[in-house]
Amino acid sequence: MTETLRIERHDGDAVWPAVEALGKAVYTPEMLAHSEFHDVDWSDAEHWVLGYLGDDLVASAGIHRRAVHVDGKPANIAGIGGVKTHPDHQKSGHASHILEVTCTLIDGQMAPDFTLIFVETHNRAFYEKRGWRVFAGTVMVDQHGKRIAFPDGSAMVRDGAQPAPRSGTIDLMGKPW
Ligand SMILES: CC(C)(COP(=O)(O)OP(=O)(O)OC[C@H]1O[C@@H](n2cnc3c(N)ncnc32)[C@H](O)[C@@H]1OP(=O)(O)O)[C@@H](O)C(=O)NCCC(=O)NCCS
Repeated sequence: MTETLRIERHDGDAVWPAVEALGKAVYTPEMLAHSEFHDVDWSDAEHWVLGYLGDDLVASAGIHRRAVHVDGKPANIAGIGGVKTHPDHQKSGHASHILEVTCTLIDGQMAPDFTLIFVETHNRAFYEKRGWRVFAGTVMVDQHGKRIAFPDGSAMVRDGAQPAPRSGTIDLMGKPW
């Protein structure tokens, strides 16, 4: 039987060294070199939802919140970033579990208009199976002092207090997550 994941929520800065170490175990230099997102300058998460087996951190998801513009109109949205599972513990349901807990926390405590995540093409099916939908419009983000369009098709959305937009322009008014 798969060992049960213990899930804890922490403030972003407090646990960053442990999350960064997990990231180094997950993203090998080869994976990073081939990643669609290899040179993206990411925003820091406000909170982390972390999954432990005993004392070992094995899975994570970061929570973001942002006042954005959707087709020029203000909206308050949540973001999820940094979803990852240690390679020794993948395909055991941990990311699914962390994602479910994170969405429940977001819905209950933040009640955003909708939630947005950036996903590489090979992970799109994982999120589609879990109810996320591809945002077919343009997402504008800040990168290295400029506001630019994030690569098409990599943002996925989930309904919140409002139905998530499926097209148009979302200006994140800051860095992506
Ligand atoms: C993508 C990633 C987060 C998935 O993590 P994970 O913990 O392996 O995810 P899960 O175990 O919840 O689900 C993965 C698959 O294993 C399956 N699975 C879950 N438990 C299983 C079990 N006991 N036996 C076999 N398969 C199982 C799931 O059903 C799922 O397949 P599906 O999408 O077809 O349903 C992980 O591969 C990873 O860290 N990748 C590198 C970083 C990355 O790309 N992150 C995503 C950023 S958006």
